Parts: sequence; structure tokens; C-alpha cells
Amino acid sequence: GLPARVRIHEVGARDGLQNEQGVVPTEVKAEFIRRLAGAGLSTIEATSFVHPKWVPQLADAEKLFPMVRDIPVGLPVLVPNERGLDRALALGAREVAVFASATESFAKANLNRTVDEALAMFAPVVTRAVEHGLTVRGYLSMCFGDPWEGPVPVGQVVAVCRRLKDMGCDELSLGDTIGVATPGHVTRLLTALNEAGVPTDTLAVHFHDTYGQALANTLAALQHGVTTVDASAGGLGGCPYAKSATGNLATEDLVWMLHGLGIETGVDLGRLTATSVWLAGQLGRPSPSRTVRALGGA
Ligand code: HMG
Ligand code: MG
Repeated sequence: GLPARVRIHEVGARDGLQNEQGVVPTEVKAEFIRRLAGAGLSTIEATSFVHPKWVPQLADAEKLFPMVRDIPVGLPVLVPNERGLDRALALGAREVAVFASATESFAKANLNRTVDEALAMFAPVVTRAVEHGLTVRGYLSMCFGDPWEGPVPVGQVVAVCRRLKDMGCDELSLGDTIGVATPGHVTRLLTALNEAGVPTDTLAVHFHDTYGQALANTLAALQHGVTTVDASAGGLGGCPYAKSATGNLATEDLVWMLHGLGIETGVDLGRLTATSVWLAGQLGRPSPSRTVRALGGA
């Protein structure tokens, strides 16, 4: 069966914007987040406290976060290490995410670490975040395929998931960073995670639409009991450290499917579409989302 309600974890302001070439003014980012909240999204990933040289677009995190932190929604932020956690704590963040990789190639490209070194870097972050009463998400990238290594064995993904869980992550987000997953592969991974004792209600899915599979993959995950889905307003984004990572699943496309299935999201699709049309105007190019194009007149 399908769930009655799905929580959308909106990543447009972080995963979406981190890949933009031109620097987006901080005020535009803050307004984007306000409008997303106004459209009914309850979890809006705000920014990353990473090294500013690695992701220059998000170098304004110290300025942005105080502009949005009083909006009454969850505002998770990415923190790669203790330095990132310190920065997030100093500004009153309540939800953080670490971001691991199932493959060595991407761990190196994204974190300048081996998989083991990256997990060793995250362990004290998760421990301290939990001590501070924060909610901790563990992202896992390259859960299906990797641009350097090809298809990623399910067992390799499950092993890193277990380690993130054992470290104390409240939720795991399974990333198809380069969008190569297909529904059978999604079902195989979720089944293997079940067998490894990772509870499905602590899992989220994070699909990219590179090969047009993101909605089909989402439906497979919902049929398996997943109720948290990551998406990016207007289909913005990709990852600067993964070649061939194109747009995320568009939130509007996701909402269209979920509402069509009678699944509640709390999102007002008209207001969300208007937000993406507005942001596309700010960025100077149309949204790649099919639903935004169909409804938004853009
Ligand atoms: P490194 O170069 O190995 O850093 O980078 P280091 O630990 O050797 O430190 C070097 C310097 O950086 C030091 O300064 C640190 O203080 C400073 P120095 O002493 O030389 O003056 N530094 C920091 N400054 C500010 N904030 C920090 C910080 N950390 C160190 N947090 C590091 C290692 C992890 C920092 C770097 O690789 C990094 O920032 N990576 C982030 C990459 C990133 O954000 N990628 C995108 C997000 S992941 C993604 O998009 C995938 C996802 O969407 C899921 C999916 O689709 O798969 C989540
Ligand atoms: Mg992503």
C-alpha cells in the first residue's frame, strides 16, 4: 500500500543553489526560503556550513541563517565536520546533516577523505549534535551508481548505512547522486536495508532526475514504506563534486504525483509553482520542472 501522508524534505535552497554558477544574493535566498515555507513545506534545507572555497555559493551561510531561523519550519543545514557544527550551533541551528559516500571516489572528490576517514570525521559531529538535542540526518551519496566506479553493490551501501545508523543518525537519506537508479534497484536496496535491521521509517530517498527515473523510483520507495522524500523546488540543482549530476527531482513534479495518488503533503502547488517561477526569473532561466512549465506559464 501507499502512505496517507509524505513529508517532503525540500533541498532547493541548498542542493539546488549550491551548483549555480552566478552568486545568488543572500536576500534572494532568504526570500526563496520564506516563499517555500509559505507554500507549506515543513522541512527546508537552508544552507551548508562547509568550507567556503569548496562551495562558494553557500559562503554566506552566517549571513543567511539568521535571516530565516525564525520561520516556523525545520531548517536543516549541512555540516561536514566539527568546525561546521560549531558554526551551525553558534547560530542556533536545530537540525544538521552529515554527508557520507558509499564509494571511495566520491568520498575523495566531495570530502577529500576515504570513506573510513569521512565516517571518522562525522562520528564526533553526530555525538555532539545529539548531546545538544539536535536532529541528525545522514546523507549517503552514490547509493546506486558512481560516475567513476559504475554500479555500486547493494552490500557496500548497506554497510555504510549501518555505520551511520550506529553512529546515532536519526534519519538516513539514500542519494542517487547521478540519477542512474531504476525502480527494481531501489526495491533491492530497501529490501537489503530491511534485512540489515535499518528501520524503513528512518529512511528518506533523494533522487536526481538525470535519466527521467526519479518519480518511478519514488513510487517504488513509497510502495516499500518510505514516507520522507527529498525534492528541489523547480528541479534546481546537482552536485558540484559529481560530474553528470543534473537536476534533483522537482518538488512540483513530486507534489503533482502525490496529490494525484491522494497522498497528503501540506503543500499548496500553486504557491510552490509561483515560487519557482519567481526564482527562475531571479536566476535568468526557466525551471526544468515539467509541472512548473505546465502550470506556471514560464
Ligand atoms: P579539507 O580541505 O580536507 O579541509 O576539506 P581540512 O579539514 O584539511 O581543513 C582545511 C581548512 O579548512 C582549515 O583552515 C579549516 O579550518 C577549514 P586553515 O586552518 O587551513 O585556515 N575548514 C572549514 N572552514 C569553514 N567551515 C568548515 C571547515 N572545515 C574545514 N566546515 C572539507 C574537507 C570537508 C572541509 C571539504 O571537503 C568540504 O567543505 N566539503 C564540502 C563539499 C560539499 O559541500 N559538497 C556538496 C554537498 S554533498 C551533496 O550535494 C550530495 C547530497 O545532495 C546527496 C546526493 O545527492 O548524493 C547531500
Ligand atoms: Mg543531491
